[in-house]
Amino acid sequence: MNPNKALWEKGDFTRIAQTMRESGEALVAKLGITKGMKVLDLGCGDGTTAIPEARLGAEVLGVDITKNLVDAGNRRVKELNLTNVRFQEGDATNLGDLKDQSFDLVVSIFGAMFAPKPFDVAKEMVRVTRRGGRVVMGNWIPNDPTLVAQILKISAAYTPPPPEGFISPMTWGVETNVIERFTAAGVARDKISFVRDTYRFEFAHTPSELVTEFRSYYGPTMNAFDAAAKNGKATDLFRELEALFLRCNESRSAGATSIPATYLRVTVAV
Ligand SMILES: C[S@@+](CC[C@H](N)C(=O)[O-])C[C@H]1O[C@@H](n2cnc3c(N)ncnc32)[C@H](O)[C@@H]1O
Repeated sequence: MNPNKALWEKGDFTRIAQTMRESGEALVAKLGITKGMKVLDLGCGDGTTAIPEARLGAEVLGVDITKNLVDAGNRRVKELNLTNVRFQEGDATNLGDLKDQSFDLVVSIFGAMFAPKPFDVAKEMVRVTRRGGRVVMGNWIPNDPTLVAQILKISAAYTPPPPEGFISPMTWGVETNVIERFTAAGVARDKISFVRDTYRFEFAHTPSELVTEFRSYYGPTMNAFDAAAKNGKATDLFRELEALFLRCNESRSAGATSIPATYLRVTVAV
């Protein structure tokens, strides 16, 4: 099985996605979406951004490598009675059956960054965008002091080194890499712009319980705990993550969690 697919089918990302809905909606509100706009949401998960895009009247296709998240997205669409959004399985490294220049906007929020072969991913996103359209990516930033980069940094210390040739998803959070990948896909440098923005994880329980959610349902953290357990270090990993989540928590109400995380928003005018 494709290890990229296996990683994200492990656990249940919908549990983490539920903590990110408000930020997803706020981000979509900034994208200038108009009625009838054709939007591809790539690495869509269960639709944290795809569903708000559809609510603004876009014709949305969500593509994700996992069957479980595509099914979860389609269930949400049905429950919400939305007719202008659907989800299907696909791989950001090869969007095969999607036609050239068929979308006005390609959105990928913490999605395509997790696919291997980043040059192929940039090429595919540009290929399916119509001339005059846009690609918008949200990418976590390596070594950033806020939550997600720190989760990945702490987890890496408990995990065996990745295989030779592995390109970290976090490289998508470095502007020079992003420029290199999109210019290789034929985009001029001055068409690529960057903004740093904030996502917020909102959870109605304590920071420690949010660590447990990540441990139980978020594929990359589950793998880190599996590796740590092999060395008898699962408790150490839990304590380090718990300290991080407690330190980052900005919620004023006891028993609730609100943690900001900085990301790099990339806009490519195609
Ligand atoms: C952190 S989640 C973000 C999901 C969603 N964009 C959101 O904001 O909730 C990463 C998503 O990227 C998807 N993904 C990872 N590699 C992919 C690939 N090669 N092609 C398509 N989707 C991929 C995962 O299955 C997962 O749904």
